[in-house]
Amino acid sequence: MKKALVVYYSLFQNTMNLAFEIAEQIDGDIRELIPENNYSFDYNTAVKEVRNQIERRFCPELISGNESVEDYDTIFIGTPNWFKTMAPPVMSFIRQHDLSGKTIIPFCTHGGGGFGQIENDIAGECSGSIIVHGIAVNGIAQPEEVKKWIDDIRDKI
Ligand SMILES: Cc1cc2nc3c(=O)[nH]c(=O)nc-3n(C[C@H](O)[C@H](O)[C@H](O)COP(=O)(O)O)c2cc1C
Repeated sequence: MKKALVVYYSLFQNTMNLAFEIAEQIDGDIRELIPENNYSFDYNTAVKEVRNQIERRFCPELISGNESVEDYDTIFIGTPNWFKTMAPPVMSFIRQHDLSGKTIIPFCTHGGGGFGQIENDIAGECSGSIIVHGIAVNGIAQPEEVKKWIDDIRDKI
């Protein structure tokens, strides 16, 4: 069986933890998106940088993670919830690949806002893809909640 790919961007590692948990449970490949200029680890500075980029719909250049995805039929796409939407590096990835015909499964971590608009925004960007209902985790993912969700969607991946 073909492996699935788990692609993610993470600033403070919550989304990274969730990505690794998913990749382990589905035996998938994993890929981190790294933008040319990463955001500040100072929360208030990051908020300003991110707000500015999201308002401009800016798609930063990726220095890692942007390799071809031709070999994958199923791609999990993970992002922190940033102002209810996906992080700009995730938008960069989506816009630079032809994901039509592929199964796309969004996942996010958040601070209380759940998916916000993330699933809708990803579905809007991937109009030719099959979108499977993803998982939104508040903070750090527990393996059991990830397993329960994977069991629910396993026939679709
Ligand atoms: C710039 C910025 C904007 C954020 N906006 C939201 C938000 O709108 N809703 C929410 O629930 N959490 C928000 N958060 C919290 C993050 O989604 C949450 O801490 C997430 O787990 C961080 O993922 P990471 O550790 O992979 O970077 C925001 C955090 C940052 C830094």
